[in-house]
Amino acid sequence: MDFEYTRIETGDGSPTLRLSAEGEAMHALEGAFTETQYIYQPTVEKATVNVENPRFLSVGLGLGYNEILIVAESVKHGRQPELIHSYESVPELIRCFRGWIQGEDTELNGVYDDIVTRYAQHYALPASAIQFRLEDLLDQGKLVLDTAITARTLPPKVNAICFDAFSSKTSPELWSEEFLNEFFKNAAAEKCFLSTYACTGALKRALKNNGFEVEIKKGFGVKRESTFARKITSL
Ligand SMILES: C[S@@+](CC[C@H](N)C(=O)[O-])C[C@H]1O[C@@H](n2cnc3c(N)ncnc32)[C@H](O)[C@@H]1O
Repeated sequence: MDFEYTRIETGDGSPTLRLSAEGEAMHALEGAFTETQYIYQPTVEKATVNVENPRFLSVGLGLGYNEILIVAESVKHGRQPELIHSYESVPELIRCFRGWIQGEDTELNGVYDDIVTRYAQHYALPASAIQFRLEDLLDQGKLVLDTAITARTLPPKVNAICFDAFSSKTSPELWSEEFLNEFFKNAAAEKCFLSTYACTGALKRALKNNGFEVEIKKGFGVKRESTFARKITSL
């Protein structure tokens, strides 16, 4: 079954998608790969290096940039993620990502092949090493491709959160202080790092309320500010 999307080449040559004519693109148009490295890599690396069997949570899966990044970092550092739990509201994105990992022919294979090749070059790894590790994790139930996250979802406790939901204009329910407070309370393990491309008052308050130390970073591309946070209770 096909689904509607437009593939866009971003400023660094890497691909992103727009799922509907009026919808927002999944990444900054200045560069999807570069944005992922700038915003999410520090959190993924810190959890990979500081936690023996790190657990990751990704909202949302999209094209899987963050999932591929997590695997590339784990191969680089010789670590094995205990869990990568990803939420995604569009079933076709889950179907295609799972299918590509399992060697099936999906309409997004060209996009995933492009992305994994970029990571392979960046980390000087064979693309097949990243793909095999993804398949292994999927087979072992350690890569969980879950449906939409809502206020009723009980997330697993994790050491790293890549919070890459659409903007508060498109997904207001995921940016409310009430949702974020409950989400961080349930999802943040004692050692936990978080990255997101956004920086809102509700986000900062919810993070501080849940024991995170918040670092405001320059935003990527035209965005003014982004957020990195670490939960400091046991670090
Ligand atoms: C900014 S994009 C994520 C890009 C992704 N991290 C990547 O690297 O390709 C936001 C994604 O969140 C998904 N989404 C929207 N609402 C969601 C929800 N309630 N739960 C999970 N995913 C959601 C969208 O379908 C979209 O794929």
